[in-house]
Amino acid sequence: MKTILTGIRSNSVLTLGNYLGALLPMVRLANKHSGEAHVNIFVPDLHSIISEVDGDLQENTLRTLKYWLAAGLEVNDNVHIYRQSYVSAHSELCWILNCIATMGEMGRMTQYKEKSEGKASCNVGIFDYPVLMAADILLYSAEYVPLGEDQFQHIELARNLAIRFNHKFDSEVFVVPAKTAEQVKFMGVSDGIRIRDLLNPEKKMSKSTAAENSKIMLDDEPEKAAKKIMSATTDSLGKVKFDMFNQPGISNLLQIEALVNDVPLEEIITRWAGETRYGELKRKVAESVSRELTEFQARLSEISDEQVYALLEVGEKYANHVANAKLLEVQKAFGLR
Ligand code: TRP
Repeated sequence: MKTILTGIRSNSVLTLGNYLGALLPMVRLANKHSGEAHVNIFVPDLHSIISEVDGDLQENTLRTLKYWLAAGLEVNDNVHIYRQSYVSAHSELCWILNCIATMGEMGRMTQYKEKSEGKASCNVGIFDYPVLMAADILLYSAEYVPLGEDQFQHIELARNLAIRFNHKFDSEVFVVPAKTAEQVKFMGVSDGIRIRDLLNPEKKMSKSTAAENSKIMLDDEPEKAAKKIMSATTDSLGKVKFDMFNQPGISNLLQIEALVNDVPLEEIITRWAGETRYGELKRKVAESVSRELTEFQARLSEISDEQVYALLEVGEKYANHVANAKLLEVQKAFGLR
């Protein structure tokens, strides 16, 4: 049975952009495949601590796990939910992989370059982040790792480390994850979905943007979220058209409308073609978003801590079992066992 694996960091409350661009598509993918594949959903809490965490990390972790469930993840025997730091093999394999990764390839990682640029100092965790991520993937022989395009470089690194290790020991210890092009095909999107900042639609929606009206947080009151949509920046062209380059604001609204309603974007584009009043579109999107938030928040409030802990108990037992077996193979190859 194949394995599909993914995780979302839990440093804070997520935005509508995280929800529509990452969480929901992953949940839909997981539900589609969990009949015939293992689906591993984990919280990379060790990745969280490379930077500041808003509030309490354990609370954030629990909330993120509830997000998955509230977004509709159907849990069956093939769906495994766990926390990275509760499976010590991740850290152990990370160290071993550090010994085959090179400074050169790590120094080329875009995320590291962006995060360290111009800073007087940068913690080693930021530099090593992609190796831990490779360990997360390789321990479970995951072939498919649904992720945003900003993470594709990290999948390539996981592939390279797996190939290098297998070659070094003339072994097939690691399953090599699928190439990025195949990953994209598997996810069924032509390119990554990026929900834009409502006030500056050239940029990605981000929780760290100061302006409140730029972003919708998952715990926003639905009415407040609707108002933010109504005040979104558009343009003066006066035609509803999907054109991310010339009309990023309108295109963003069309994209949000499609994702919230789980309707193909093309259908939404056709539906609104010829419309000249942006207010009409905004009202419709505002209504869709506030309805989605209302329903999501209601589902979220119904999930108890106990329910999540019960899933974690089973999931972490499974994860430790699989990960430790793989780690042992690696330790043997290196002569550690
Ligand atoms: N790096 C991912 C992110 O920031 C989170 C992550 C860590 C991850 N390890 C992973 C995702 C392994 C998929 C697989 O979004």
